[in-house]
Amino acid sequence: MRISGTVRVPGDKSISHRALLLAALARGTSACTGLLIGEDVRHTAGMLRGLGVTIAPLRSDSVVTVRGARFRSPRVTIDCGNSGTTARLGLGVVAGHPIRARLTGDASLRRRPMRRVVEPLRSMGATFQDGAEHLPVTVQGGRLRGIAYESPVASAQVKSAILFAALASRVPVTVAEPWPSRDHTERLFVHLGLDLRVANGIVSYQPSAGAIPPFELAIPGDFSSAAFLIGAAVLAEGGELLIEGVGVNPTRTGFLVALERMGAHVERLNLGAEGGEPVADLLVRPAPLQGTEVVAAEVPALIDEIPLLAVLASRARGETVFRDVGELRLKESDRLELVAANLRNVGVAAEARGNDLFVVGSDRPPRGSVQTARDHRLVMAFAVLGTIPGAAVRLSERRSVAISYPGFFGTLRTIGRGPRHRD
Ligand code: S3P
Repeated sequence: MRISGTVRVPGDKSISHRALLLAALARGTSACTGLLIGEDVRHTAGMLRGLGVTIAPLRSDSVVTVRGARFRSPRVTIDCGNSGTTARLGLGVVAGHPIRARLTGDASLRRRPMRRVVEPLRSMGATFQDGAEHLPVTVQGGRLRGIAYESPVASAQVKSAILFAALASRVPVTVAEPWPSRDHTERLFVHLGLDLRVANGIVSYQPSAGAIPPFELAIPGDFSSAAFLIGAAVLAEGGELLIEGVGVNPTRTGFLVALERMGAHVERLNLGAEGGEPVADLLVRPAPLQGTEVVAAEVPALIDEIPLLAVLASRARGETVFRDVGELRLKESDRLELVAANLRNVGVAAEARGNDLFVVGSDRPPRGSVQTARDHRLVMAFAVLGTIPGAAVRLSERRSVAISYPGFFGTLRTIGRGPRHRD
């Protein structure tokens, strides 16, 4: 297809969760524009309402107001749906209050590890029931103590759970991680004037005396959603695409670095800042790709883009290797096995070996069925592959895109319709 148009993507999912949580903890009414109205963020809003916070109805294109409140124990089990961020950051925020809550989620989320947040929160003084390995988990929060935590995984959810527990319970903490993970929580804390510093990769938070002030926040477009449109534009036969107002925080844009090595250059225009986050318009043109190697240190900054990068690698010259991507097994689905298996299903040589993923590029049109396991990022990655001329990619379902990017298929159609019959 030819690509064309100027589009926007929905608000950043990671920042949307954090904005709601911070607003819930603030004294007064906060207002967010550009909040993602997707299922994951709805679950965070639902959790906070269950804890006693007043949140205006979530509607796209409107300001969402949140009135902070003293948290109370919810009467019913909190349903985190498919959202790992809701569950893990939620456990952190509840742990910092003298309340008790039971959290659960859908079948996918109930398989995902919770021990990574339970362990540090337990060291801080929270108590857990039900084994605490997987949801459902019951947490009893209270007066916590500070910790210096060395996380065995590079996980923004772990880091943020600790920071939110510390913020709620007013205790100092430090968090170190093997590689830097996304730093939206840190940036928001600083933006609100909280005492958070980062030195030598170690994050330190010191509580301050006053209440958390209410705030107004404009949330940038989600880079992870934009990435799928970038992928479609790179694979297109001609044209160009402008995606406006996208968050380009360097802890999120590792995909662009890998793409550059593969031979595609994405221009950043109108660089600005919103709420402590860098924002830019992204101009993308089609480009022939070559294989690359993605190494362990790069993984946190492109973790959610690996299904898409693997799809792009299947159209590149030569082999692409993703090293140490075992974390992919623990996402919304076992993305390591499912990316490899689905690529094979459509005729691509791909294999997961240990914690590495290998993809051999080909120029044959992809044809076959894709099992999405209701994983939104698998749906979108393979939908991008389906835009190749001659492709026949059948997706087992499409509605899971509502988790992070409800309008994805509409936008994909719009940018592909473009001036196809011109010149
Ligand atoms: C997220 C952190 C990442 C990412 C997820 C969102 C966040 O997970 O994969 O989609 O908002 O903190 P981990 O923290 O488990 O790496």
